[in-house]
Amino acid sequence: MDLMEEIKKRRKIVDEALVKYLPEREPKGLYAASRHLLKAGGKRLRPVISLLSAEMLGKDYRKILPAAVSIEVIHNFTLVHDDIMDRDEMRRGVPTVHKVYGEATAILAGDTLFAEAFKLLADSEVNSENIREAVQVMSDVCIKICEGQYMDMSFEERKMITEEEYLEMVRLKTGVLIAASAALPAILFGESEEIVTSLWNFGLKSGIGFQIHDDLIDILGTDTGKDWGSDLLKGKKTLMVIKAFESGVELKTFGKGKAGVEEIKEDIAKLKECGAIDYARSRARAFVEEGKKSLDIMESSEAKEILLELADYLVTRKR
Ligand code: IPE
Ligand code: IPE
Ligand code: MG
Ligand code: MG
Ligand code: MG
Repeated sequence: MDLMEEIKKRRKIVDEALVKYLPEREPKGLYAASRHLLKAGGKRLRPVISLLSAEMLGKDYRKILPAAVSIEVIHNFTLVHDDIMDRDEMRRGVPTVHKVYGEATAILAGDTLFAEAFKLLADSEVNSENIREAVQVMSDVCIKICEGQYMDMSFEERKMITEEEYLEMVRLKTGVLIAASAALPAILFGESEEIVTSLWNFGLKSGIGFQIHDDLIDILGTDTGKDWGSDLLKGKKTLMVIKAFESGVELKTFGKGKAGVEEIKEDIAKLKECGAIDYARSRARAFVEEGKKSLDIMESSEAKEILLELADYLVTRKR
C-alpha cells in the first residue's frame, strides 16, 4: 500500500467538498481572508482520518463528508487565530492571514470559519440524535482547544514548566481535535461507546505525538512552509526545551524574539548534544504506538491498515 497515494485520493475528495460547501459571499474582503489558508493547501490529515475512520466502520463516508470537512474548517480557524497569537508570518508556504489582511480581518475570518464549521457539522446525513451528540462533542473540543492555547501562551511568561504540564497543554490544543477526527464518524453513525472510545484514544494519543513532532520540525524542518525557529524565539516551552533545561543547558536565542541563523543553529546543536531532541522524538513515537494499540479491537481492514500507517506518518512527516 502506498500511504501517500491513499492520503492523496481522500484529500482530493475533501478539497472538492471544501469548494462546494464554502462559497464566497459578500463582503469579498472577509471571504478572501477566511479562504486564504484553505486555498493555500495543507495536509488535510484530520478530515482524511475521518474518512478512513468511516471506511473502517464499514460505512459510506459520503454521509459524513460535511462533518469531516467541518473538522478541517475548525482546524483552519484555529490556525488563523494561532498565527496572530504566535506572531507568525508564514504558513503553508504563504504569508499568514493577519499579515495579508490585517489583524482585525483575520480575527473575523477565523470567527466566520468557526461558525461555518458548525453549520456544516449539522449537515451530515445521519439521524439527528447522533448529530446532536456530535455538536456537543465538537463544542467541547473547541473549548478544550482554547484552554490549551491559553496554557501555551501563559507558559511563554513562565521560566519553565514540567513535562506533565506540557503534555496536558498539548493534549488540549492539538490532541482533542485529532481525537475528534477519528471518533466523530463513530458518533455520527451511532456506534457503541467502546468503539467511539477506542477511536478517540487512537486520535488523542497519536495527536499528542503529532504535536511533539511539530515542535521538533519547527527547528529541524527545512521545508515546513512555516516560520523556522519560531517556537524557540518565542520562548515556547516545548518538550525538548524542558528536557534541555533539566540538563542545565542554556539556550541563547530562547525567548529572544529575534536572532541570527547562526545563533539559532548553535542552540539546535546544543539541543541535539544533550539528548533533548532524541528524547522528544522517542516520546512522540511512544505516544503513536500507544494510540495504535487502541485500534486492536477493530477488525482488520484496508482502512485500518492505512490509519495505522498514517499514525506513523504523523511523527515522521517533514512538514
Ligand atoms: C498544524 O497542523 C497545527 C498543529 C496542531 C501543529 P498541521 O501540520 O496539520 O497543518 P496543515 O493543516 O497541514 O497546514
Ligand atoms: C498549534 O500549535 C495548535 C493550534 C493551532 C490549536 P502550534 O502553534 O505549534 O502550531 P503551528 O506550528 O503554528 O502550526
Ligand atoms: Mg503557531
Ligand atoms: Mg501556537
Ligand atoms: Mg508548531
